[in-house]
Amino acid sequence: LVVATALSAGLVLPRAASPSAGLVRPAHAATHRAAVVAEAAAVVASEVVTPSEFPAGNLRSLAEYDEMYARSVADPSAFWADIADSFHWERRFDEVVDANFDSTKGKVFSSWFSGGTTNLCYNALDRHVAAGKGDQVAFYHESNEEGEELPAWTYAQALAEVQRLANALRGAGVKKGDRVTLFMPMVPQLALAMLACARIGAVHTVVFGGFSAEALASRIEDAASRVVITADGVMRGKKLVGLYEIADKAAGLVRGLEVETQIVLQRLPPDVSGVSLKPGRDVWWGDATAAADPECKVEWVGAEDPLFILYTSGSTGKPKGVLHSTGGYMVYAATTTKYVFDLQPGDVYFCTADCGWITGHSYVTYGPLLNGASQLVFEGVPSYPDAGRLWRMVDKYTIAQLYTAPTAIRALMREGTGPLQGTSRSSLKLLGSVGEPINPEAWRWYYEEVGGSRCPIVDTWWQTETGGVMIVPLPIQGASMKPGCAMRPFFGVQPAVINEQGEEKEGACEGLLAIKAAWPSTIRDVFGDYERYQQTYFPIPGFYLTGEPPRRGGDGCRRDEDGHYWITGRVDDVINVSGHRIGTAEVESAVVLHPNVAEAAVVGYPHPVKGEGIYIYVTLNEGVHESDELRKALVMQCRSEIGAFAAPDVVHWAPSLPKTRSGKIMRRILRKIAASGKEVTADELGDTSTLADPPVVDQLIASHGIWL
Ligand code: WT7
Repeated sequence: LVVATALSAGLVLPRAASPSAGLVRPAHAATHRAAVVAEAAAVVASEVVTPSEFPAGNLRSLAEYDEMYARSVADPSAFWADIADSFHWERRFDEVVDANFDSTKGKVFSSWFSGGTTNLCYNALDRHVAAGKGDQVAFYHESNEEGEELPAWTYAQALAEVQRLANALRGAGVKKGDRVTLFMPMVPQLALAMLACARIGAVHTVVFGGFSAEALASRIEDAASRVVITADGVMRGKKLVGLYEIADKAAGLVRGLEVETQIVLQRLPPDVSGVSLKPGRDVWWGDATAAADPECKVEWVGAEDPLFILYTSGSTGKPKGVLHSTGGYMVYAATTTKYVFDLQPGDVYFCTADCGWITGHSYVTYGPLLNGASQLVFEGVPSYPDAGRLWRMVDKYTIAQLYTAPTAIRALMREGTGPLQGTSRSSLKLLGSVGEPINPEAWRWYYEEVGGSRCPIVDTWWQTETGGVMIVPLPIQGASMKPGCAMRPFFGVQPAVINEQGEEKEGACEGLLAIKAAWPSTIRDVFGDYERYQQTYFPIPGFYLTGEPPRRGGDGCRRDEDGHYWITGRVDDVINVSGHRIGTAEVESAVVLHPNVAEAAVVGYPHPVKGEGIYIYVTLNEGVHESDELRKALVMQCRSEIGAFAAPDVVHWAPSLPKTRSGKIMRRILRKIAASGKEVTADELGDTSTLADPPVVDQLIASHGIWL
């Protein structure tokens, strides 16, 4: 079975051929976690690393950071007003911030720059063109096929295309506040489509191109989008991703509303895509824009008007539509980009994330363009045609900032330093990491082999809900880093470490990560479900929590003696697979749809490349026998309900599942067995006294998972 993550995430290499779907547990799986823990412990001892050269940039010293940070929390209004004034406001805001994180004192809300009107697209494009930067490149576009040259987009060209597309959307009846679903490959036109929505005040909701028709349909339905922008398809490595086919199928599955218009970008030669459009509903992007008026007036929107919805998984229920609004998001995305990546004139920046995820929203589309930067967009995968692709692109475009995920680093690290040879990477100034904790081994490799010990590693902790980077070792000349440590809060961010009761801990400590004051791009709502918003993120008065009940908190965190923050990973039932959040409940729902399945429980386990893999325990109905066919059917079920990246790595036929007397599945035990298999010790299993039927655990240990 080909690991689908490579395709979906665009970040990882396909896994090395594993022994045929066998009963063999790869040695690395069992030892990986122990290795990671030991490794982390070794560096915790306070190893600090200082890059040999980093130029004085947007922040000149740690003292300047300290001074700015102090100002940002002492007087957030003055701090953010100064910054906000460098953007175009059609009408200036009256009040910088008003927020409440305490539900016992009234509704939870966060409002920034109220009274102001502006437009993201205007600030990202028109403003720069008006300032004479129209000929500067906004996007270089690297094809999947190495050597195939594709045209770059200047700011002026981007603006021209966006205006035509925005008019085409208006022509399709899209008005301010309407939702438009984008299901596209990672090409510059995806960012342009987002900007076209923003220009007319429409709310974009991008669905990552690796999702299945079922998953896309449920998101179109939840957002009630009548217009979809998609593409015929795209080549990712050797694989053709037929986006149109999926979008077409999704449109047929949507209930309660009709997809009235689909705008379809042509990215493939017609004989390859084989797409024939549905008359009356579908129109080619090229035809729609050619027919549209070249000039599109900007819709000025309120600072608190919604900008986008992005669906994300939680530990329970269906994915949540995380809603971000205009003014605060604009200011925060731009400011974090400026300082976190230390953008300088002439730099070419490259973030490998897809715009289907928040990283692509804030650090491909909005942050870099708001800063007037030039960046590279790559539609392929780093492993194609070989593991040297990323490094050759760094040289070809003279990339100054490379922002990628630990899973990609680990995948490339496995190939050794061979693929690095023949590339100089001398243009690199800093290296970024996002999506999951970066293990010290990967950190070291990235730092030493990729960056030649010259470049800071900017390990950015944040979430879809936070809209922008929250905790980060900002790149500052002479500043030291601790491998694997996210270090310091960004301006205006006030982290807190709390216990399960919601009490804040002081000094060096460990607990759950929470944030105790609003920042400009705080999540504003769960689309269509304010109740869920308040209950999920603000169950404890005064704090934004990083995960959901019943665990009250998603990310574990340690604050060391120097006050630096270490993110220790999810503590709730969310799995982080290659930097993508997958709710265990979502995968379980997909598995139990199969008629032969009585019950299923899904947990994560340490995976050497993906960070976490998906491990499913399946109990079959009476009389049904385990078989390869059934196992394959369950994997297919996950692929079709969610997407290829949610395919399980391990299927464990479980005679039954360990439960408490009240019938709650004891996931803690399942996680231990998944991580350690037969070697699991009684100690590791912890307290099993609440088990309704203790022998179940021994049966589980005696049986085994099947690595796919
Ligand atoms: C979750 C958010 C942030 C954009 C990409 C993922 C984990 C993210 C780090 C990091 C440790 C990290 C957390 C977080 N995470 N970055 N640098 N160190 N953990 O966005 O899908 O909303 O996932 O990713 O667990 O809660 P997301």
